[in-house]
This record gives sequence, structure tokens and C-alpha cells, in this order.
Amino acid sequence: MKKIIVAIDGNSGCGKSSTAKALAKALKFIYIDTGAMYRAVTLFFIKHRIDLKNESDVKEALKQIDISFKYNTTTCNNETYLNGRNVENQIRKMEVSDLVSAVSEISQVRTQLVNQQRKLGESKSLVMDGRDIGTVVFPNADLKIFMTADLKVRALRRQKELMDKNVSVDLKDIEENLANRDRIDSTRKDSPLKKAEGAHEIDTSRLTFEEQVDQILQLIRHEIEPA
Ligand code: DC
Repeated sequence: MKKIIVAIDGNSGCGKSSTAKALAKALKFIYIDTGAMYRAVTLFFIKHRIDLKNESDVKEALKQIDISFKYNTTTCNNETYLNGRNVENQIRKMEVSDLVSAVSEISQVRTQLVNQQRKLGESKSLVMDGRDIGTVVFPNADLKIFMTADLKVRALRRQKELMDKNVSVDLKDIEENLANRDRIDSTRKDSPLKKAEGAHEIDTSRLTFEEQVDQILQLIRHEIEPA
């Protein structure tokens, strides 16, 4: 079968990851959450107190970082490993969320992660989500999606997600964090978040989860030529 790349970009908390995960499952493709990779780098930087403004410290730190994914058959989730340790829960914490956009502005970080992301797409069909997948990582992806949703809707969804994990966070703090990340992600110099050429825009504010997954599955059926 032909190797297929589905690229999904969009704002923080618009449902990219859960949608991409469901698509990958339905299509039997690998799912790669590139936000998790930026989060893992951020966690390492926090733990090792790396000064984000010190280029040589950042360069040295990046040499010590190995990120991988392992599928957990119990949670049905491709979990993130940093230097061999499962960090899936740690990278979702607010201290990481608060710093991750600043870390992902650093070009050295982006170069290293983009190279790894392209390697992951060399051999297998995959669904990859992030901010620059359709614009930078795979500009020739077979299908590009740009997902959006109202800020309030995104904050409520994120709060529910955290509550399901027994983490209680004030709605206002979540809204602030999302708005702040939107601003940094879409105005940064290197690979800002924007709709890729040829991407299909899907506003999920008023869609159910099943509807948004279904819309993309239909696009895949219509847009991608079978080999
Ligand atoms: O998808 P997420 O919210 O877990 O992503 C966390 C941060 O990582 C997000 O604020 C911006 C950054 N990111 C990025 O710059 N490029 C990507 N391809 C994926 C994420």
C-alpha cells in the first residue's frame, strides 16, 4: 500500500490530538503528537534549569535529549518517552504548558525536532499533528487539515480533559494559557502557526467529536488516490 501522510495543524486545545489519534486508529496508521515532543524538550529544560536565552546551553542540552514513543496497549495511547522514561503525564502539567511555547520559539529546538519528525514519516503511513506539519515538516502531505475552535469552547474542553485526569485547574487560567500560546505560536519568527497552502479548514466549535473525525475520514476517502 502507498505510504500516506496526513498533516493536522491548529490552535492549542482545538481537539487536534484526539482527532488525529482516532483517525490513526481508524486508518491503522501511526499517530505522532509533535506537541508532545516540544513538551518533552520543555520538561528536560525545566528539570535541568536550562537558560532558554543561552544558545550554547540549549545546544548542549539538545544533545542529551532522546525522545521516543511507545504504544501502550492498556491505554491505547502512543506514549512519550524522554531518555527512556515515560513522561506522558508529566508533560501535560501546567508548568510545562506555561513554558512550552517559549521553548518552541527556539530555532535549534525546532530544527532537531523537525528532522526527527521527517525521519518518522520516511517508512510508514502516519497522522501527525502540530503547528507546522503542513507548512514545514510535510508540505507535500497527502492531506492537510487546519483545525480551529472558539477560545471558550477550547478552554472548556481542556478543563474537562484535565478533570477526567483528576487535575483541577481554573477555567480562567486555562483560557489565559491557551490565548497566550495562540499569540506566541502564530507570531513567532520560525514556523509560525498558519493554514498551509491547500489545507482544509475545519472549525470544530459546533461539531461533535464523531463529526469532526468523520469529516476528515471523508476527505481522506475523496482526496487520496488509492495506490
Ligand atoms: O499540541 P500541544 O498543545 O501539546 O503543543 C504544545 C506546544 O508545542 C504548542 O504551544 C506549540 C508547540 N508546538 C510547535 O511549536 N510545533 C509543533 N509542531 C507542535 C507543537
